Amino acid sequence: MTTALAPKKIWWKESVVYQVYPRSFKDSNGDGIGDLKGLISKLDYLKHLGIDVIWICPMFKSPMDDNGYDISDYQAIHEEFGSMADFDQLLKECHDRGIRLILDLVVNHTSDEHPWFIESRSSKDNKKRDWYIWRDGKDGQEPNNWESIFSGSAWRYDELTKQWFMHIFSAKQPDLNWENQDMRKAIYDMIRWWLDRGIDGFRIDAFSHTRKEPGLADIPNPKNLEYVPSYSKHMNVPGVLDYVQDLAQNTFNHYDIMTVGEANGVNAQQAEEWVGESRKRMNMLIQFEHVGLWDTNPDQRFNMADLKRVFNNWQKGLENIGWNALFVENHDVPRINSKWGENTNFWKECSTSIATMYFMMQGTPFIYQGQEIGMTNSHFDGPDDFNDVSAKNYFVMKRKEGRSDADITAELNHTSRDNARTPMQWDSSANAGFTTGKPWLKTNPNFKQINVAAQMEDPESILNYYRRLIRLRRQHEGLIYGSFDLVDADNKEVFAYTRTLGAEKFLVISNMTKNATRCALGPIAVKPDNLLLANMPVTDHGVEHGMKLKPFEARIYKI
Ligand code: GLC
Ligand code: CA
Repeated sequence: MTTALAPKKIWWKESVVYQVYPRSFKDSNGDGIGDLKGLISKLDYLKHLGIDVIWICPMFKSPMDDNGYDISDYQAIHEEFGSMADFDQLLKECHDRGIRLILDLVVNHTSDEHPWFIESRSSKDNKKRDWYIWRDGKDGQEPNNWESIFSGSAWRYDELTKQWFMHIFSAKQPDLNWENQDMRKAIYDMIRWWLDRGIDGFRIDAFSHTRKEPGLADIPNPKNLEYVPSYSKHMNVPGVLDYVQDLAQNTFNHYDIMTVGEANGVNAQQAEEWVGESRKRMNMLIQFEHVGLWDTNPDQRFNMADLKRVFNNWQKGLENIGWNALFVENHDVPRINSKWGENTNFWKECSTSIATMYFMMQGTPFIYQGQEIGMTNSHFDGPDDFNDVSAKNYFVMKRKEGRSDADITAELNHTSRDNARTPMQWDSSANAGFTTGKPWLKTNPNFKQINVAAQMEDPESILNYYRRLIRLRRQHEGLIYGSFDLVDADNKEVFAYTRTLGAEKFLVISNMTKNATRCALGPIAVKPDNLLLANMPVTDHGVEHGMKLKPFEARIYKI
């Protein structure tokens, strides 16, 4: 259906974002750790890919308990990543190439080594005591039974003042108390300091967790329900939007920037309150509903009906009133082709079919480093191969339940965040050309087959397919601003939709399975000459009894 209203045109809607996990992107000095100079050396590659915005994961000073999501100084660069001069150079070199740079804003918590926390813990009457969440224990136990997202209790006892502090993530990530106005002011000053330096926006980490349910009451029946109920006490709790509003009014709204909120627990129906354009809060959300579909069903590739329902809800829920962030990978989830695809026989086909499916919806597409070359999940032999703090905590907890290391390792091979954090695969030389030293996390052994250098050469590579997707989206306003409508909505194998802007209309089709299948197009007429892109040679455009598709075949037509 053609909609009367077309979305307002803004640069960040027309952009494609590339997410960099600096630790794993490119090492410039042989210490095995990616760094800012390394990233700078690859900006021409990113320009060639065609992206518009780089989101760099935290590169601030940090003890690296959660690889930088535990910040001890918001206004300094982590030593291993470089210096503030390197950062300024990065920003300048991005801007020189017409690329914008957004940073990761981690303000649900700081590191326990942040001077604010060191002061806060020093005494009960310290001025910053209330900047964090301190409570007395109950009969020598934790103040309540909430669990950390990274396993174990959400509280840590501090001998110094004999109280407990809350940490929704690791024990080295104490939660800030967003009720405290002085704390907020300090955060806002820091944000404006970065914006005044000329950065182009923020991805806002874990913001839906900032508000805790008043009273901090126990969760009921903790034994029956695992983590989910703990979330309910600190995830998207009523009142959190007041924090969002206050944050935006005091900072974001005074700049021409892009803001992307990570919003665990926010569903499509609630999204308007976060990113409705008239509300002036945030521009778009990293939502978890589709991510949830592959977390909760480890044995199942995905359920097409659920997938369509979730994406359709977000597309329709924000139509003409807000904007979507489109992604299938990031540093917190396993590689998508390993999860949804079939890499043994259809690695290239499934990687490009999934890409087509999510990239052409309405919203700003995000590409996570390595996704553009079809990097896959890695292999971890045992506990020592993992780096992620949440994996380490998981071992501790599951060992207590009597599970063997081999068993836990087998599970984490599929689910661990480390799958997405192995070094970027640049070429077939030692360590995939990521470092001349020993990489901080083992390189995926498949780098000789999967790497940038090989795919640059090959016109039919996944990398070149992403380049075409980006170019195509840029060439057609309808692929950016057009409204979204599912086609053959009940089809369990094919994800198909149209995009419509005025008289312009496009058809996007992805067979998401390893089976040859058909997609019913109803009244839609397809002309072979109007094929804009396909991930394999098209032999038959016919639509009698539906369009015939080969395994993981994907096509885009103008109709
Ligand atoms: C977000 C980040 C994740 C981090 C967590 C705590 O979910 O994406 O990597 O561990 O917040 O900061
Ligand atoms: Ca380095």
